[in-house]
Amino acid sequence: ADENAFMRALPKVELHVHLEGTLTPELRWKLAQRNGMTLGLERTGVTYTSLEQLKASYAGAQIRPGHEFDNEEEKFTFFEAYYGGFEVLKTKQDFYDLAMNYFNRVAAINVRYCEVFFDPQGHTNRGVSWDAMMGGLRDAQAVAGRDLNLYCQWIMCFMRDLSPESAMEHYEASLPYHDIIIGIGLDSDEHLRPPALFADLYKRARQDGLFLTCHCDVATDNTHEHIRQVVLDIGGNGVDRIDHGLNATEKPELMELIQDRGIGMTVCPWSYLRHQPVDEVIPRIRALHDAGIKIAVASDDPAYMEDVWVAHNLLLVKKMCEFDDRDMVTLARNAIDMSWGKEEVKTRLL
Ligand code: HPA
Ligand code: ZN
Repeated sequence: ADENAFMRALPKVELHVHLEGTLTPELRWKLAQRNGMTLGLERTGVTYTSLEQLKASYAGAQIRPGHEFDNEEEKFTFFEAYYGGFEVLKTKQDFYDLAMNYFNRVAAINVRYCEVFFDPQGHTNRGVSWDAMMGGLRDAQAVAGRDLNLYCQWIMCFMRDLSPESAMEHYEASLPYHDIIIGIGLDSDEHLRPPALFADLYKRARQDGLFLTCHCDVATDNTHEHIRQVVLDIGGNGVDRIDHGLNATEKPELMELIQDRGIGMTVCPWSYLRHQPVDEVIPRIRALHDAGIKIAVASDDPAYMEDVWVAHNLLLVKKMCEFDDRDMVTLARNAIDMSWGKEEVKTRLL
């Protein structure tokens, strides 16, 4: 219990969380009511007529591989659950409420600085305007800074299962909001979607002075090649950070490159442990840390991952990797170091 209190009280930086992945069933229900919508999963024809049912649907994305399902309706993937939530986000107020929900939640566990992903393509595709989306994010960011002592910047993510042309169009459309967007990333389904497909986008963002990161998901086919591309090629001379990328531990040459280039990695323990054997995940996290590679612990999609937020993820690695207090201080400093915060923010946190 003391340890919990210590980890909650420690000033924290979170560098890998998807805003839409913080949409709790309670907020989703509230927004659906406000927008006069019926919730359900189109593929299966199931509708959720109560908050309890909606909550239960979140469990569908949480079941481990090999689980026997009682019926087809129960069965859906993380991406179905996650993208299924997008439909309730329509107005500026909805985006504001979503961001404030995250900010309030993590301010209470003493997150003081965060860089938060959002997926613009998942919103413009449904007819949401950039002004509604960015207006809500901008207002929430300002309130968090003023009232919660929580400073936030936004990372625009591109869905790699959509075309590079769509990504570039969205990039162009985002230009008026670059005062609050610090960097870009790639997310969504990585299968057969190497970062090199988005080389032009990354070059452009680099020229424009944005920071670059990229998901290199665990257990993706071709993950070593994806990691190689982001370390060496993407953005002209490699990215600034890697999101996940634990499979680098299988290739000494990748480990060496990441180390030499000082590229930090965001690591989301619970996101892996829900689906992968402990004996695979934990030694890899340990190996990165022991090799002197900077890792920063984060939560990924806490609302869809059993409500496990960043403080709990830190406790998990502390226990499972057997990190001591010095290691935990190193992790806290790594996150500050790896952040793209303005220098004065870093100084304030150190
Ligand atoms: N993986 C890939 N893309 C994502 C995720 C994730 O866990 N969450 C939101 N977009
Ligand atoms: Zn992620």
